[in-house]
This record gives sequence, structure tokens and C-alpha cells, in this order.
Amino acid sequence: MYHLRDEFPIVREYVYLNHAAISPTPTFALFEAFRYLYEVSQHGSLHVNKVEEGDFANLRKKMATFINAEPGEVSFVPNTSFGANMVIHGLNLGKGDVVLSDGLEFPSTVYPLYKLAQRGVNVKLVRASPEELEDRLVEEIGEGVKLVSVSHVSFNTGVTLNAKRIAEACRKVGALLLLDVIQSAGALKLDVKEMGADFVVAGGYKWMMSPQGSGFLYVRKGLVPDPPLYGWKSSSTYMEFNAEKFSIEEGPRRFEIGTIDVAANLAMASVAERLTPLRDEVERRVRELSGHAIDVAEDYGLEVITPKDRRAGIVVVKVDQPRKVAEELLARRIVVSPRGEGIRISTHFYNTEDEVDKALVAISQVRGRAR
Ligand SMILES: Cc1ncc(COP(=O)(O)O)c(C=O)c1O
Repeated sequence: MYHLRDEFPIVREYVYLNHAAISPTPTFALFEAFRYLYEVSQHGSLHVNKVEEGDFANLRKKMATFINAEPGEVSFVPNTSFGANMVIHGLNLGKGDVVLSDGLEFPSTVYPLYKLAQRGVNVKLVRASPEELEDRLVEEIGEGVKLVSVSHVSFNTGVTLNAKRIAEACRKVGALLLLDVIQSAGALKLDVKEMGADFVVAGGYKWMMSPQGSGFLYVRKGLVPDPPLYGWKSSSTYMEFNAEKFSIEEGPRRFEIGTIDVAANLAMASVAERLTPLRDEVERRVRELSGHAIDVAEDYGLEVITPKDRRAGIVVVKVDQPRKVAEELLARRIVVSPRGEGIRISTHFYNTEDEVDKALVAISQVRGRAR
């Protein structure tokens, strides 16, 4: 797996520990996107049609294999927010129904719930510490709850929820589970069947290391047969270009509704394909590096917000003035993000312990000055 570090020329310029924000695209995936764009520049529609006819099914297959879904359950979406909206507004929820999320979520899977609130849906947000979040969510999944919309891995605390436990609690009361996996897909091994989530969604530009504009939505077979938005590709008859003829597409294209970002998704599918045989190794390495970051942070007397036993690839350490600290690190060519009360360090499998150490030495040096 270490040979893959050569695919990330960014390591020559930066200590890059910001995969929870945006990942550098590995060279092999960049070439996949570039090859497509180049062919379109040379052959226009001839190349686009060729890819649509042949490679599209292949793309779905690669993504589906990566998350253990059926190809017919995987759609390509431009970002997490779009996919989440397709699900949330596709469930025909109404007055008296309860939807559940939490107050520490990234807004993209919570704001769409506020739109439901306009129709009388009761939006409940659990407020809990990272350690208690999972238990509190499970406690709240009771009668009347129709949908639980949460992140698998939290963007601002790094806590990882046990998706299977939440899915089981949902099943008991007939609720559905929408899991935002943008902070786990590509870092942790995801098996949608094993997790039991009904819907899984992620943009590809974080741990999937793919261009912005790539993303995927898994919808368990049989759910949301009639999405809330229609476009020309929503009809099974779309190739007839007949505005008076419409029959809803039954396959995953029904969520795509129009033209997708083919280049970006070709890159994402190539990452999925390359990482599929390495999923266990990638997860082990991601957890090893985040564990190392926590240990070193604690050695320097830094307070770690991320619970060590529930970590994935994100580690948040508490500092005063996180923005200022992040700027000082950037001046040393170390890239991290200020988030909430701290600095978020997000290491992918190709990072090294040495890079993590450099970041934590720098944080421990500048945190005093940033007070
Ligand atoms: C948990 C989570 N969901 C969603 C997003 C981004 O959403 P989108 O892909 O719609 O831009 C982020 C970005 O930081 C995130 O951390």
C-alpha cells in the first residue's frame, strides 16, 4: 500500500493532513478524469456516447463493489447535499412524523429537514457530547420517528457512530436511516448491507480523494421509487426526447435526473476500484495514524476532543484561537483545519507518523503564542 504514496505529489510540498476538508487527487485518478476530458476535446459527442453506452454500468459496478451494494442501488450525485435532499424529500413525510438528527451535525443533512418542518414534520435534534451521542440517539428512536439523518463520522469531533446499532434501533420502530458517509467512505471499510443503512450518501472529494462534482448515493432496493425532482433522465424513455411521453425510470438514474459529471465520477470509480482490495488495510492504517495523533497530542498535554475508542481518520485537539493556530501551521506548510474549539487533523492512509509528529510539534509550539 505504501507504494501508493507516490500517487500524491503533494507530499513534496506540504504536510497535508486535511482530508476531512478536501483531498488531493491521486495521479492515477486525475489521469482517469483527464483522459475522458481529453477524449471529449478530440471527439466530442462521439466519446461521450461511447462512455455512456459502455462505461457507465462499469462505474456503478465499481462503486457498488466498494460499498457492497448492487449496481442498481448506486446513483452518482454532485454532492452530499443533493443526495440527502433526494432522499429526505422523497419519503413523503408529513404532519406528525418525526425526523431525528443532532445539533453537532454538518448542516447538509439537517437543513433539508427544516424544509420538512414547513410541512408540519417534527424535527428533533439530539444534543449530546461526542461520547454520549450514540446512546442518546438510540434512546430517541421511538414511536413516530420515520427518519434518522446523521453522519457516520462527525466532521467536528471525529466520533464514529455504530451504524449497525442505530439501524437496528430504526428497524424496531419502522424508521429509515440516512447516513452521511462523506467522512468515512474511503477511510473506513463500508459495507452497506452489514451496516444496515437504508440510504448512504457522500461527495467524493474528501476521503474518496476524487474531484469535486463526484459523489454517490446508495438507496436500498425498493425505496424512493419516485424521487422529488424530475429531469429528462428521470424517464425510462429519455432517449426518445419526447416531452409528452414519461414513465419514471426504475433504475438508479432516477436520482441523477440529468447529465452527471462524468470525468469526476470516472476518477471516483477508479479510486473505488483501486482501494477495494485494500479496504481493510486502508482502515487499519487510517486508524493507526489517528491513534498515533491522539497519543502524541496527549504526550504534549493537549486536550483531545475525539474519543479514542470511536475514532476514524479525524482527530480534533483543543486549542485557543484555532484559526490563528491553523494559519501559523500553514506558514510552516502544514495543512490542517480549524473546526469548533480546536484543530482538526485528518490523516489518510498514505501519510506518515513523521508528518503527524511535525503537525503536533507545531501545534504545541504555537498554541501558547496564539492565546
Ligand atoms: C459531514 C459532512 N457532510 C457533508 C459535507 C459537504 O457537503 P456537500 O458534499 O454537499 O458539499 C461535509 C463537508 O465538510 C461534511 O463534513
